[in-house]
Amino acid sequence: MALFCNIIISPKPFVLSCSYQKTHLSKTPQNTKQDAIFKIKGPATLSGHITISGSKNSSLALLAATLCCSGSSLLHNVPNISDIQAMASILCSLGAKVESFDGKMMVNSDGVGKIEVDLEEMRKIRGGFFVIGPLVARFGEAVVALPGGCNIGKRPVDLHLRGLRALGAVVELRDGKVCAHTANGKGLVGGRFRLDYPSVGATETLMMAASMADGITLLSNVAKEPEVVDLARFLNDSGASIEGAGSDTLVIWGKSQLYGSECVIRPDRIEAGTFMIAAAITRSCISMSPVIPSRVSCLIDKLSEAGCKISQVDQHTLRVSAVPALYPGGDDLKSFGIKTSPFPGFPTDLQPQIMALLTTCTGSSLVEESVFDNRMSHIITCLLPSSMKSALSIISFSLLLWIARELQKLGARIQVNGNSAIVFGKDKGSSLCGSRVIARDLRGGASLILAGLAAKGTTEIHKIEHIERGYENIVTKLQNLGADIERLTPPSLSSLL
Ligand code: EPZ
Repeated sequence: MALFCNIIISPKPFVLSCSYQKTHLSKTPQNTKQDAIFKIKGPATLSGHITISGSKNSSLALLAATLCCSGSSLLHNVPNISDIQAMASILCSLGAKVESFDGKMMVNSDGVGKIEVDLEEMRKIRGGFFVIGPLVARFGEAVVALPGGCNIGKRPVDLHLRGLRALGAVVELRDGKVCAHTANGKGLVGGRFRLDYPSVGATETLMMAASMADGITLLSNVAKEPEVVDLARFLNDSGASIEGAGSDTLVIWGKSQLYGSECVIRPDRIEAGTFMIAAAITRSCISMSPVIPSRVSCLIDKLSEAGCKISQVDQHTLRVSAVPALYPGGDDLKSFGIKTSPFPGFPTDLQPQIMALLTTCTGSSLVEESVFDNRMSHIITCLLPSSMKSALSIISFSLLLWIARELQKLGARIQVNGNSAIVFGKDKGSSLCGSRVIARDLRGGASLILAGLAAKGTTEIHKIEHIERGYENIVTKLQNLGADIERLTPPSLSSLL
């Protein structure tokens, strides 16, 4: 440990070989060959304790922020998942030195010589766009390929760009790339910007940019997500001066230089939430740590409303029990409604998982998605009213066909209308039974695992690379809880389509 301390306290450069690309990128986590699948035998009963990994979304933001810092930054508890690999690859492609060992990542961006993030890299991960703020702030310019939409929505970046303009950047779109540079050729300048929507990404981009702008910046209607708070803490530890993280207004006093610092990545609240729902959908009792209860409070309320017993074993350990015997009156988990919204509202990244749970509850539930415009793709059934079908663009219709076919194979009964859905419980026509399904995105994929754990028989999930983007060792963790799940590399997939 002494060695790291030297690096952090004294800004003396510590040269690291860019071994990261060679050693790690070739060995993608768990060798996620394209045609690997998950095979689950259900219904499962889970028990025991699992450890929650570091947050994917905090890690991505902090890795982008290391571009602001002179010297080396050391991040502890970084999850070994492909999204992190992709971000590290972007940093390396810009010339940063990245070293990763035993769940830690050391990044030194003093050698950054390139300011362009190419399309190939951007294709791998949307979060890569967040580097635009640090690059313009520290190096005066950036060229970043426009991140396309993904399976959960159009995902525009207009707020990032308008915010950068408010800080004195000239921003142009050229050949599908965002080209930004400081208007005065020197640096960004503090200013005021109100976000039309509390976007997490735009808040993070502008917070990083303003941390190195000349003067004071006031950002209002910003995101209050815990990942934003984690980023502000890291930047402040690196010498920035940010106030208000976690509220809807940020005041930032810009600094000419930030220095690498050390930070422990907080536990992943969405992974914790996914396992809490795993306990509920399998009517089991499990405990997990580390968890920061205030970061999953919305879910705790909803699961308690359904009839689960959630107890705090100690400061960072939660136990979730949905064992039938415990329910008042002995019947089963009751249905409940959710509407996703920015933090502290119900997280959109747990909406698909909750959908799977609600198909096993008693009664029907209304689920509304208000954050992303296409995050219902993991459930749609052919029950869609004809007017709805025509409204959908050809592309999303083929997606609907795909998904509808997959979920019906799992026996769920859900009716979608635009961005809301009625979920029919087990007494209203849903009865989960094993089948072969295809993951279309990270959280939709996680909901298929949960449905597979509760379903009778065998479920095969294909395109698991979507899931392994954001869940570290999910198969091992579920096996340790007693689930019958395997990761297999079967012969080619085509025969199943
Ligand atoms: C972050 O995405 C997370 N990703 C997402 O998690 C999460 O779902 C989302 O925040 C909401 O909580 C990372 O942190 C890497 P947004 P982000 O900007 O920043 C609109 C997961 O599964 N918007 O808050 O891209 C946008 O279209 C991922 O881990 C604009 O209109 O989300 C969307 O409807 C998926 N203009 C809404 O805001 C902009 O410039 C929320 O997006 C930016 C966003």
